[in-house]
Amino acid sequence: MQMSDQIDRPTWRAGDVPVSARFDDPYYSLEDGLAETRHVFLAGNDLPTRLRPGFFVAELGFGTGLNLLALAECASSAGVSGVRYCGFEAYPLPREDLTRALAAFQTLSPWRDALLDVWNPDGFEAVVGPVEVRMIRGDARATLATWDGAADAWFLDGFAPARNPELWEAGLMAEVGRHTRPGGSFATYTAAGAVRRALAAAGFAVERRPGFGRKRHMSVGRLEG
Ligand SMILES: C[S@@+](CC[C@H](N)C(=O)[O-])C[C@H]1O[C@@H](n2cnc3c(N)ncnc32)[C@H](O)[C@@H]1O
Repeated sequence: MQMSDQIDRPTWRAGDVPVSARFDDPYYSLEDGLAETRHVFLAGNDLPTRLRPGFFVAELGFGTGLNLLALAECASSAGVSGVRYCGFEAYPLPREDLTRALAAFQTLSPWRDALLDVWNPDGFEAVVGPVEVRMIRGDARATLATWDGAADAWFLDGFAPARNPELWEAGLMAEVGRHTRPGGSFATYTAAGAVRRALAAAGFAVERRPGFGRKRHMSVGRLEG
């Protein structure tokens, strides 16, 4: 496969919301991306309450980095540093698209600028405010299996399961479970039955909660045992 096949060039909707040309789905909510992130991924994982130095967040689908920046803002407001984050991404955005996608989020600007300074679509490690960041490029079905880390909280943020089924496969959800610390959690905007069943089979006690905006439900869970 050519390198250009593995880069996503989005189209744009509602001004500056990127929409994947490959998956025909927006990277974040057309209504209010940051509010959705806070509701689904932060509150869904009981953050900032659980944050402490060394707390490890991992994410399937680094995308624009919006969720990472919201985590940095959350940790900063809570006065917690030394939080760790690892994002898995198969089709990284070029810097110019990342810049445009994040331009609207003024409150995130200190961390956004730090991210743009170090952004490398081939993968990178850097410090973004209170968060030690790593981005691993490649299909998560291959890269997660060989990852030597374990997360306290997962952001499961693939495109819609019907459009991006590979990022929600049962085998990959099993790897999420295997790479979760005891008592660790996940949160995702989807309440699709197949995803919930795969996460239950991976060892999570799965719970349905009210979703963001027009989405009736989302899912959260804690690793059992
Ligand atoms: C909804 S977007 C993520 C948005 C992101 N969390 C943010 O804060 O902007 C889904 C992401 O999953 C990535 N993705 C899709 N299939 C993948 C795969 N098999 N492995 C790794 N990443 C994948 C897409 O390229 C895209 O960036």
